[in-house]
Amino acid sequence: MTAPILRRLADLRARTAEWKRAGEVIGVVPTMGALHAGHLSLVEAACAACDRVIVTIFVNPRQFNNPEDLASYPRTEHEDAQKLAAHAVDAIYVPDPEEIYPPGFATTVSVEGLTDVMEGAFRPGHFDGVATVCAKLFLQTAADRAFFGEKDFQQLKVVRRMAADLDIPVEIVGRPTVREASGLALSSRNLRLSPDGRERAARLHAVMQEVAAELAGGKPLDGLVATAHERLREAGFAEIEYLELRAEEDLAPLVRPDRPARLFAAAWMDGVRLIDNIPVPAS
Ligand code: PAF
Repeated sequence: MTAPILRRLADLRARTAEWKRAGEVIGVVPTMGALHAGHLSLVEAACAACDRVIVTIFVNPRQFNNPEDLASYPRTEHEDAQKLAAHAVDAIYVPDPEEIYPPGFATTVSVEGLTDVMEGAFRPGHFDGVATVCAKLFLQTAADRAFFGEKDFQQLKVVRRMAADLDIPVEIVGRPTVREASGLALSSRNLRLSPDGRERAARLHAVMQEVAAELAGGKPLDGLVATAHERLREAGFAEIEYLELRAEEDLAPLVRPDRPARLFAAAWMDGVRLIDNIPVPAS
């Protein structure tokens, strides 16, 4: 059955207040829509772990550092609602913009440190937008648990830090990246790739796996980056913004995976910016 689409905060609050009174656990899956199997795996995890599930759909202008990216971001509300109909979702919250940013809105939530690198460095202001909207969505939905994909691992860390620092009583649950058979990480932005670009984009994951295997075998990252860049360029990636090994705990840069670590990358294919990350076994 299709869950009700709620656009007003008052309507959402009327429902969550009832659920809270009944002692039910509320889960939220924050999204910007254009739902794919990765989002739906989060929805499934939320349904398994919570009594009530809210999926939010809001293309948050404040997290886009590039106006063209915002303008071309896919908006597919009708299809999204249809996809969610197959899941036990209780409400789809598609807030009117003024429910998130009312006139005069003047507050920004900014997380220090974790946001200085990678996505934070290449997309100025991005994480302020993410942290601000997530803080609002957590408070508006009164969720006990919020579900995020590890595909945006840095985002997961930033949101977890923000919720802890602001004493927002929500547990942040991270879930594994869902991939196509080719290895390409699912992303709403993949919709903008040509069929050929989509095939070539899968090389990102393959090259990252090759680098991870060399790292696990004891080679330091410095000796591997140039070859990896070359392979990505051969695959058709126009620009490689970063390929970095970082500690899972605090995203500190590493040369070797001498503690739980991940390899992170961002690169452009067909004018589409793709990011990915994979865990690297300790060497
Ligand atoms: O990952 C996303 O889709 C967005 O960054 C999020 C968490 C929904 C905030 O707008």
